Amino acid sequence: MRKKIVAGNWKMNLDYNEGLSVFSEVINMINDEATGTQEVVVCSPFIHIHSLVQLAKGQNRISLGAQNAHQAESGAYTGEISAKMIKSVGAQYVILGHSERRQYFGETNELLAKKTDTVLADDLKPIFCIGETLQEREANTHFDVIKSQLVEGIFHLDAEHFSKLVIAYEPVWAIGTGVTATADQAQEIHAFIRKEIAAKYSQQVADATTILYGGSCNPKNAAELFAQADIDGGLIGGASLKSRDFTDIVKAFN
Ligand code: 13P
Repeated sequence: MRKKIVAGNWKMNLDYNEGLSVFSEVINMINDEATGTQEVVVCSPFIHIHSLVQLAKGQNRISLGAQNAHQAESGAYTGEISAKMIKSVGAQYVILGHSERRQYFGETNELLAKKTDTVLADDLKPIFCIGETLQEREANTHFDVIKSQLVEGIFHLDAEHFSKLVIAYEPVWAIGTGVTATADQAQEIHAFIRKEIAAKYSQQVADATTILYGGSCNPKNAAELFAQADIDGGLIGGASLKSRDFTDIVKAFN
């Protein structure tokens, strides 16, 4: 059985103290209310991670992640953070290829393939994001776009490394817009992704891969999305900044 995961992506929100208090509330609410076996991952800004890991000690369902990592192991890259540093403070996941990184920081599939290698070499699990823009969907090229993101970004991995990945399908037109993909639209793409993984690796690898949906996921729509056969959880932006909303999304799996 593949893992069910609800991950929060705080993006560049919540200062240090705000982050600590939201995370403490999330831990308490999850412990009190979430009865399922779903895993919870919070991907905070880098500077919060060390303290959040301390707060999460002993919480076997809750872990931390970063939102980016540099492709090099170390070196003269002023202002950058390496996967090794992220690992050293106790995080377990790194979001890679978020559409905001692709759009505002020029991250290409080729660069993301390198980042994926580095993150895996440091024994962290990438949450690898893919998804089409509105123009691409309207031009009916969304399947091609997603396939090339898979092929160029992560299909160079061998099956053993691939099995450590989590994939997040985040249609760009649904991110931060309040427009959610319908459950049918999301399921269609998730099934396509799983089919491509089966064709490249094996049905067994495909069946074991966790594929998250992201894009205006909220407490009202989460249960319907998560009930789809190929949707194994969510990558939550805005709603992960509020402990009540985030916990309610986690509880969509109860
Ligand atoms: P929203 O949930 O705010 O639409 O953001 C989704 C996202 O980008 C998560 O990575």
